[in-house]
Formats: sequence, C-alpha cells, structure tokens
Amino acid sequence: MALVQLQNIKKSYGKQLALKDVSLSIPSGSFFTLLGPSGCGKTTLLRAIAGFHQQDAGDILVDGLSIGRLGANQRDVGMVFQDYAVFPHLSVFNNVAFGLVQQKVPAVDIRQRVEEMLLTVQLDQLAARMPHQLSGGQQQRIGLARALVIRPKVLLMDEPLSNLDAKLRVDLRRDIRSLQQSFGITTIYVTHDQEEALSISDQVCVMHAGIVQQVGAPWTVYNRPANRFVASFVGANNFVPLAWDAAGGPTLLGQPLQLPQGLPVRAGVPCVASVRPENVLVNQPQPGAALRVDAILRQTMFTGRELQLSVEVAGHGLMEALVDPLENTMALKPGQTVQLVIGYDDILYFSGDDAGVRLS
Ligand SMILES: Nc1ncnc2c1ncn2[C@@H]1O[C@H](COP(=O)(O)OP(=O)(O)OP(=O)(O)O)[C@@H](O)[C@H]1O
Ligand SMILES: [Mg+2]
Repeated sequence: MALVQLQNIKKSYGKQLALKDVSLSIPSGSFFTLLGPSGCGKTTLLRAIAGFHQQDAGDILVDGLSIGRLGANQRDVGMVFQDYAVFPHLSVFNNVAFGLVQQKVPAVDIRQRVEEMLLTVQLDQLAARMPHQLSGGQQQRIGLARALVIRPKVLLMDEPLSNLDAKLRVDLRRDIRSLQQSFGITTIYVTHDQEEALSISDQVCVMHAGIVQQVGAPWTVYNRPANRFVASFVGANNFVPLAWDAAGGPTLLGQPLQLPQGLPVRAGVPCVASVRPENVLVNQPQPGAALRVDAILRQTMFTGRELQLSVEVAGHGLMEALVDPLENTMALKPGQTVQLVIGYDDILYFSGDDAGVRLS
C-alpha cells in the first residue's frame, strides 16, 4: 500500500503544453482513474509517474519519498499497456517470469510466484502457450500478471481494455477491480470511457487540456459536476440557457420556473441549466415541483436496456430523454406531441462564461 502524491507537475512537448500544474493526492490502496478526452494528458501523466519520461517541473512522492528523479526501474511501479506489450517470443510463463528474472529472484521462488500469479489471473492452464496462441483478453491477463508479480507499490494501467470487445471489457474490468482490492494495491488507471471510470474507481479525476477539472467519488463527479466540461464529458446531459421573461422572472424552455434559493444569477448574466436524459420524464406525473413543456418526438432508438428519445421543444432545439422500453415502445411514435416533465431538483445551473462553473 502506498500514498502517491503529485506536486505541481508540468510537461510540454516543444510548444505543445501537455500538463499544466497537476497536483493530486492518491490515497493508499485506492483505485484512482484519470478520465478525459483524447489528448488531455492522461498518458503523459502516467508515463511521468512510471519514469518513462521526466516532467519539466514538479515532483512525485510515494509514501512521502520523492521518486520524481529516479529511473523507471528504481521506482517500484508496475505498468500495464493498452497494446499488451507481451514478448512474442516468450511463453506465457516466461512473460510473467521476466521481471523476476531481471530482479535475480532465485529460480524456485520464481516458479512458485509465477504459478501463483497465473492461477490468480486464470492463465494457469495456458502457461506453456505462446502469446500468438492467445486471445486479446488472455494477452492482457499476461500484462496484468507481469505487472503484479513483481509486487510493485503502485500499479499503473493505460487504457488496458480499449482493444477488447465490449463484453470482454466488462468481464475483465470486474476482474481487475477485484484483483486490485484483494492485493490492496494503489492503482492509477487511465481511460477515456466514462462508464468504465465510474464503475471501477474509488475516485475519478477528470482532465481536460492538461488541467485537472475535478477529483471525486464516481457519484459526486456524475451528480455534482464541478463545471460544464465535467457535466458534458461524464454521462450525457441536455444544456439549456436560462432566460428571463418580460416581468423579470426566470424561464427555461419558455416556461417559468422556480430557481434554487440563493442561486447567484440575474437577468443579463448568462447562465446555463443542465438536465440528464434520464431525468427528462415523458408523459409521466412528477410528484414534486416540476417544469412541464410540450415537445415533438423526433426519433426513438431502442438499445435493449432503454429507449432513447430525441425530442424537440419549439424554438429550443433538440433534447434527449431516456425512458423504459417496456412501458413506452408501443406508445411512443415519432411525430407525436409528448409532455416533458423535469423536476426542479434535477436541474443544475452553471455560469455561462468559459469556466462554466456549477452554481447550484
Ligand atoms: N511525444 C510527443 N511529442 C509531441 N507531442 C506529444 C507527444 N506525446 C503527446 N503529445 C501531445 O501532448 C498532449 C497530451 O498527450 P497524451 O498522450 O498525454 O494524451 P492522452 O490523454 O493520453 O490521449 P489519448 O486518450 O488519445 O491516449 C497531446 O496534445 C499530444 O498531442
Ligand atoms: Mg493516452
């Protein structure tokens, strides 16, 4: 178990800024995920922690000791890569044994540790196979076993599941999470898949353009996004500008509404409201205080678990709603008018400037 602290990490490639003053504290034994769009600096940060390249400024501490200037092989970290990076000419057993051989661990101990590890990642039956005789998921299990067998203080994983098919991704992420928990190893995991990040992590760090936007538990990041970027990147959201009627009252989608008490907004200062598709109710009673507005149903998409609706509120463009397919598939047809019901409690408000910080 190890506490990892990143202090004011900066990194540029020539003129391209990749990390701008990143400071993070990653609790010992936690599963910590870096989440963000392509190019936001996730891999750059992970490689700096691994020691594959040097940050321009700042330091990295493990249990209070600086590792920021040590070579990669002195840092006591294990890394799992997106493209598996297994040695093609070595058997499964020898791939996993590789790091222990390098560390000059006695041969009997190597055999025992590798066999144990192969059992743990469910590759014990395949120890003699060569990598080209394995599926992608099995190759990534080698990657995982190879990183864990050296008993590193910190495990780093850079999009380890992104080359696998959807079903395998879900299976393997469950295995990764339970392995991480049984080993109690501090893990820093990179993904651009928000569902993966929410499902697997103790804490999620959302990044954008080399800057940390928010760090929090999955529930917090989803339900209390720090700003508009987080609200739009993590899960789906409808954004609607807040407007004001002639009498000076607030309106949304052309309807008057009640704002949360103390919300720091006023006419003339841009403000944007958000509501998640699952909170846009369609033709349903809403027991609490809610905004009601008519819309035309433009498109329905059945995904199995849910029915995605694209609805148009006259003068306000398209919005998305998610409804239960069992109750609605027969009843809802494109072209018909539906009533949208949005509970006031399900609306968040953000400043309308570039920062887009959450106000409510
Ligand atoms: N070796 C390099 N030389 C120049 N620019 C680089 C280099 N590596 C990364 N960059 C740039 O630095 C920024 C951050 O890249 P990084 O690879 O860390 O992003 P990422 O979040 O891992 O993206 P992805 O999800 O696509 O893997 C990007 O703008 C990228 O183009
Ligand atoms: Mg990357």
